[in-house]
Amino acid sequence: MYRLTDEQKAKVKELLSQMTLDEKIGQMNQESVSIVGGFDVPFEELIEMMTDGRITQDEFEKIMSTAEQDYHEDDIRAGLVGSLMVQDPEKCNELQKIAVEESRLGIPLMFGLDVIHGYRTVYPIAIAEAGAFEPELFERTARMAAKESRTQGVNWHFAPMLDVARDARWGRVSEGPGEDPYLVSQFAKAKIRGLQGDMSSTENYVAACLKHYVAYGACESGRDYNTVSMANSMLYNAYLPPFKAAVEEGAATVMASFNDLNGVPCTVNEFTLRHILKDSWQFPGFVVSDANAIRECVSHGIAADEAEAGVEAANAGMDIDMGTQIYKKTLKQSVEDGKVPMSVIDEAVERILSVKMWLGLFEHPYVPQEAMKRYEVLPKEHTDLAREAAEKSIVLLKNDGGILPLGKGQKISLAGQLADNREEIIGAWAMSWRPDDCVSIRQGLENAGAEFEYFSCCGPEAEINEEDVEKACAYGDVIVAVVGELDSMSGEASSRADITIPGKQQEMLKRFLATGKPVVAVLMNGRPLALKWEAENVPAILECWHLGVQMGNAVANVLLGNKVPEGKLASSFPAVTGMCPIYYNHPSTGRPGGRSKFTSRYLDAGFEALYPFGYGLSYTTFTYDGLEAADAGDSLAVTVGVTNTGDSAGVETVQLYMQDVTASIVRPVKELKGFAKVSLAPGEKKQVSLTLNKKDMGFYKDSGEYVLEDGLFRVYVGGNSKDCLMKEITLTF
Ligand code: NOJ
Repeated sequence: MYRLTDEQKAKVKELLSQMTLDEKIGQMNQESVSIVGGFDVPFEELIEMMTDGRITQDEFEKIMSTAEQDYHEDDIRAGLVGSLMVQDPEKCNELQKIAVEESRLGIPLMFGLDVIHGYRTVYPIAIAEAGAFEPELFERTARMAAKESRTQGVNWHFAPMLDVARDARWGRVSEGPGEDPYLVSQFAKAKIRGLQGDMSSTENYVAACLKHYVAYGACESGRDYNTVSMANSMLYNAYLPPFKAAVEEGAATVMASFNDLNGVPCTVNEFTLRHILKDSWQFPGFVVSDANAIRECVSHGIAADEAEAGVEAANAGMDIDMGTQIYKKTLKQSVEDGKVPMSVIDEAVERILSVKMWLGLFEHPYVPQEAMKRYEVLPKEHTDLAREAAEKSIVLLKNDGGILPLGKGQKISLAGQLADNREEIIGAWAMSWRPDDCVSIRQGLENAGAEFEYFSCCGPEAEINEEDVEKACAYGDVIVAVVGELDSMSGEASSRADITIPGKQQEMLKRFLATGKPVVAVLMNGRPLALKWEAENVPAILECWHLGVQMGNAVANVLLGNKVPEGKLASSFPAVTGMCPIYYNHPSTGRPGGRSKFTSRYLDAGFEALYPFGYGLSYTTFTYDGLEAADAGDSLAVTVGVTNTGDSAGVETVQLYMQDVTASIVRPVKELKGFAKVSLAPGEKKQVSLTLNKKDMGFYKDSGEYVLEDGLFRVYVGGNSKDCLMKEITLTF
């Protein structure tokens, strides 16, 4: 975990005392590799040209391959760069050599990258992986990613992303672990242990970066980069807890978010950066801005120019400027003018040098030659873990008539372009994978020896191919249609105003249903979708998200019953888009949704999620009985009986929720407080025990004060956030 010895702290102080102001500001400057030549338009415009279709991705890549790149060697030599985004180990070593051997003080560089859900081995996107409800799994995938990247030069992950997100229109819901502060906090702690925990060798760990601090997930109307307004009590109770949990677990760095929060951009937000993070939580690491975010304070209209934005950011506690060179160009003058105290600079640089020291970069700045070799094929240990994570993330939403698992000897029509695409399985934000490692669903069924034929038929952006549809309808005893989103439809800058299944894919499903044959919809997507029509019409629905390199094998195993699905939803699914934002743990209204018109509901969509948080079926069924909640001093001892009432073995995630029934401010209707996964053989019953610590039953007031208020509480236990047993208990703290 991120902690320095006294000796290391002394070395940092000593080094700091030798630095000039320019060198100090150099450490606060993070550079991107700039594209400097080979074409006539600026790099930003090139990106826009690709995004709006003026050039294709292939053309873009061709141009890029001939472009000259500026790695800022001269600035590194002069001690004016502290970190960079590079992912080529040879290049990392080359630049590191300049920093270590040619700069005056030899301070090593940090190399950061967006390693969100795996490096070379890509695991499920976070919203999917969180649905495994398995912190130990979250930790193992993070550890593997840390080792893979560090041996390729990347020693700083811009992850985990901990944005509680409740509006599925926002494209970045894919990158984070869902809507619930408790689940996101468990995910956060496990990821920190995985990324930073194995310090037995410098090749085994990286610095984590908690992002996006804070409340980015609440951007208004789900539109990326948009404004956020919320009461402090909501901020403290729902959006800050995962960051606090990760800081307590020992996270080394934090990235501020793009959004403004109650009128102040998080990049320059003294309240969140200084008051909460650094002073109240005593966070010892450093804070980096998001890309170009200091400059964007001018567009936000809270700084007249770049220099003023730099002053505001530095004074608010922003230690590193990602990508704008504003600190590099203006901070020295601002210090000399007395606008930024020297103590602010010293504090930032001490934090940055400390993280570098903890990473072992002063003793081991280089990637060893032997570690640099890339695998020709991924080792089995890596693919096994990727498959396990993928299988555990799959959520069975509907299975009328027990269509799934598919029977032996059943002929399958596999339909939909997404089924035969090995690149779309990766999902948003993966940068270091290879197509050859990726197993498409078609390939997965082939590997599993299924009797099937593939028909392309239609895709998220494609027209229907009538001939293919006819063949698909004619061939199989069952039709498995893979439908959903392209991976570019979620992630950064990928908000959607209509979150139904895009294009003509629903039309394709209608054709299949008209045959009267059983139809399975396999969903591939980066966000909760609005599935009203599908839920009403398609008999079996399997939520498979973007599951990473082993997606095809995992999906095939679940379809064929080699693996019983056990994933649960980390985010509520609305019936229709207009219900967004929707989340199970919403504050109690004065008129809770119900049958009557004058309750909190929609005339045309009711009030309940189509599939609630925590929901997910199995190939077997579970019943709950005998819920008890006994006062055990500092905690409540909660027990419940869970029985497997079906005829296959299965794994159930038993979820513990509570409600503070009467409090001094409005509290959520339910809040997740614990969970346990249990494996049950057919007919088997287990008593499951869960602990609810009394200290966790309180809440924050607007002032930031945490209080435990005596009174009536409801304890709920069940297999999802809606269907629970309930016990009331009155407590005096
Ligand atoms: C912008 C994104 O918001 C952030 O998540 C990412 O880490 C940085 N760019 C760097 O790529």
